Amino acid sequence: MSKLSQRVANIAPSMTLAMSARAAELKAAGENVISFGVGEPDFNTPAHIIQAAKDALDKGYTKYVAASGLPALKKAVCKKFKDDNNLEYQPSQIVISNGAKHSIFNAVFATIDPGDEVIIPSPYWLTYPEVVKCCGGVPVYVTTTRESGFKMSAEQFEAAITPKTKMLIFNTPGNPTGAVYSEEEIRAIAAVCEKHDILVLADEIYEKLIYGGEKHFSIASVSPKMMDLTITVNGVSKSYAMTGWRLGYLGASPEIAKAIGSFQSHATSNVNTMTQYATLAALEGPIKPMEEMVKAFAARRNKMMEILDGLKDIGLDYVKPEGAFYVMLLCDKFYGKSYEGKVIRGSMDLTEMLLDHAKVALTPGICFGDDECIRLSYALSMEDMVEGLNRIADFLRKVK
Ligand SMILES: Cc1ncc(COP(=O)(O)O)c(C=O)c1O
Repeated sequence: MSKLSQRVANIAPSMTLAMSARAAELKAAGENVISFGVGEPDFNTPAHIIQAAKDALDKGYTKYVAASGLPALKKAVCKKFKDDNNLEYQPSQIVISNGAKHSIFNAVFATIDPGDEVIIPSPYWLTYPEVVKCCGGVPVYVTTTRESGFKMSAEQFEAAITPKTKMLIFNTPGNPTGAVYSEEEIRAIAAVCEKHDILVLADEIYEKLIYGGEKHFSIASVSPKMMDLTITVNGVSKSYAMTGWRLGYLGASPEIAKAIGSFQSHATSNVNTMTQYATLAALEGPIKPMEEMVKAFAARRNKMMEILDGLKDIGLDYVKPEGAFYVMLLCDKFYGKSYEGKVIRGSMDLTEMLLDHAKVALTPGICFGDDECIRLSYALSMEDMVEGLNRIADFLRKVK
């Protein structure tokens, strides 16, 4: 008899972590590796947020608090949802968890039964299918194309619905594509959800990181019915450079929020109390430091696109990213070619060769369901980014 439950037996280990481990090994051996693999802002948490955590400790806020979150923080989250997203949640509809990843797990665990189908536009953030499988659900992928900017149309979505479909996982701005859906596109997708009564897990963690003309629009704001069908997930990791603090939150219908709160009260209890006070300061404090961060990302994105535009002649192309801090490089033109006798068969081979021969770490698209691409994060200094892109170009010029 297997020692493992069926729930966990099929979960894939994180391929991105395997790549980062190899890059770390090379760095430890003294190699000058430039990493485009990172999924977190390279900025420090703003000083006033750190100070709020220190103050919380000094005031003795070191004890358990309510399992689903500090009442004051839930109120601040409601205000944030109202001001930024036009969503009117009550504090009882909010659950504070250990990062958006934890909120996503809770949302799927609370709603998906074995055999339920969950639609995931592909390329996707690699955690989604694993969480769905962990809960006994069946991921159903809708493949998007480079021509559509990696966005799923309402028609594609509707065509994937079966009597078993229970949920859509909808991530805008998107990781790994940087795609940002317009309000019109979102309304069309919402109409399909309303027609077929499909729940939506809306992952809006990158909402503040948008650079083009588009404005972030929350799918739950479409109508009272969408408000009821949607679980809106957000957090402070990306927008306030707080990845290590571990705080995410969700807003959901009273029924779903209550179930998640009860489950969390047995699974983890409250999020670290000090982190909750720091998050309160983040949500209520000045936004200037964050605006500076977004400006810096915007400048890097422009520079990166300028360099990549100059590399089209060697066969490297990309899909223009509108948000988050990732871009998908289209690399399939290099497949079948070789370097020093080794044939490049896909995104895993190419990333391994780039790491070994050009000393740049990237994430193979196969991790996100698209083997034709490699994901590059521009959450690194401008100087490193320019040097790293030069190294990539030099290597690709040698591939025959
Ligand atoms: C699309 C997406 N959602 C959620 C998360 C998780 O964020 P957190 O650090 O809040 O758990 C990430 C982190 O990489 C992400 O890329």
